[in-house]
Amino acid sequence: MAAKRTAILISGRGSNMAALIRASREDGYPAEIAGVISDRPDVEGLDLAARAGVPTRVVEKTKGVSREAHDVAIGAALAELGAELVCLAGYMRLLTPGFVAQWTGRMLNIHPSLLPLFKGLHPHRQAISAGVRIHGATVHFVTAETDSGPIVAQAAVPVLPTDSEGALASKVLEAEHRLYPFALKLVASGRAVLDGERVTFSNVAAAGSLFSPEAAASEADIESLARMTP
Ligand code: GRF
Repeated sequence: MAAKRTAILISGRGSNMAALIRASREDGYPAEIAGVISDRPDVEGLDLAARAGVPTRVVEKTKGVSREAHDVAIGAALAELGAELVCLAGYMRLLTPGFVAQWTGRMLNIHPSLLPLFKGLHPHRQAISAGVRIHGATVHFVTAETDSGPIVAQAAVPVLPTDSEGALASKVLEAEHRLYPFALKLVASGRAVLDGERVTFSNVAAAGSLFSPEAAASEADIESLARMTP
């Protein structure tokens, strides 16, 4: 099966984007990164993508342009890249329902909490103030409601009483870098499919692989993930 052409939407640092690019270069990975689109110029993620040889586009939202018109421009950039799947990776703009509808079942987002807990801004601060002992990250299909779409996979990290917001964010980010490539692999290979309000899975080795601290399906996954870690 041909690797699925996947575009990544970013607004900043791009560390999850970089993890997806690295994973896509592993033998047999079912997605290739067709391009990276940022709504902001001069962000670190754009440099990282360019250095990795991935095509980049900036689709800035200028004053006076409606959200709808901006999403139409994003859609045009996606079409130009020939994208079949879209991964939001730190894309800080709310997408319009019309745009989301066009990508139903083909657009993923990563959020740094165990959804449905701690949606929106400052999830790590929310986790610490709620006193949870386990926190983590979620990859889900995107629906019109923010951070609410059907869940593909999650990774967990322990919350220590001594963890600051920053320390917790770093631990979760490390887990995100393993989780997103894993979740995209499931979706791009057709093993995780959006089915109404749920995700259905086929040929997923072990049920536990969809939720583990390593968020990896097999020894081979863990090995290749270890190779990807800088
Ligand atoms: C990540 O924590 C991601 O979960 C959230 O925004 C952050 C983006 O970080 N949606 P990066 O740009 O991937 O480094």
